[in-house]
Amino acid sequence: MSHTSITLKDAAVHRRTIYQLNKKAPVDDKQIEEVFRLAIKEVPSSFNSQSARIVVLLKDDHDAFWDIVRDILKAHVPEDKWEHTGQRIEGFRKAYGTALFYEDPAPIKTLQTNLPAYADKFPQWSEHTSAMHQYFLWTALEAEGFGCNLQHYNPLPDQKAAAKWNIPLEWSLKAQLVFGGEEEGARAGLQERSEQPIGDRLFIHGAAK
Ligand SMILES: Cc1cc2nc3c(=O)[nH]c(=O)nc-3n(C[C@H](O)[C@H](O)[C@H](O)COP(=O)(O)O)c2cc1C
Repeated sequence: MSHTSITLKDAAVHRRTIYQLNKKAPVDDKQIEEVFRLAIKEVPSSFNSQSARIVVLLKDDHDAFWDIVRDILKAHVPEDKWEHTGQRIEGFRKAYGTALFYEDPAPIKTLQTNLPAYADKFPQWSEHTSAMHQYFLWTALEAEGFGCNLQHYNPLPDQKAAAKWNIPLEWSLKAQLVFGGEEEGARAGLQERSEQPIGDRLFIHGAAK
């Protein structure tokens, strides 16, 4: 599926959590870069903070990230629980790439100084800004034909990742988006999306009858 040929609605419907991933990328690295550049350029941020920082790790660098997570987790997880955890990490490692979503606190601090009336709100809006980037890229990568899943192993790998990829330690890691080719049948058994009735969750007033 190419991002140029599907509607936003199709892309939103297509986006799911896919765990069975492999290293067969449906598009080349140049196209992956295009999608990430688009996100950095077009996704909005609170007061235009432009505080999102995204580190994209492909192939060997992706593998190295999950090796870091595995090695740290191994020291934390009890021996009898390791098999499940280890297999989960191995599953992520089988994918093609991982996007690390960071927020840079520097522009947030500047906004807090310049707009003290909102000072206590900016950290929350920084989280929203990161989430906007995460959702856009999750959807856009799936529209390119990747399968994706979103993980939260921070803060465990933060220091080692910072050292390996020259990432400022002040940046705050929020989430990891794993993406790769989809194994055959990877979407089999996905649950229906709306388990809770939409009418209990959406309220529209004033619409034409
Ligand atoms: C903010 C947020 C955090 C999530 N964190 C995780 C996570 O840490 N690990 C994981 O496997 N899935 C995570 N998910 C995936 C959700 O469980 C999944 O999106 C949800 O069950 C709906 O399924 P779908 O993505 O197939 O539509 C997260 C999703 C969101 C929106």
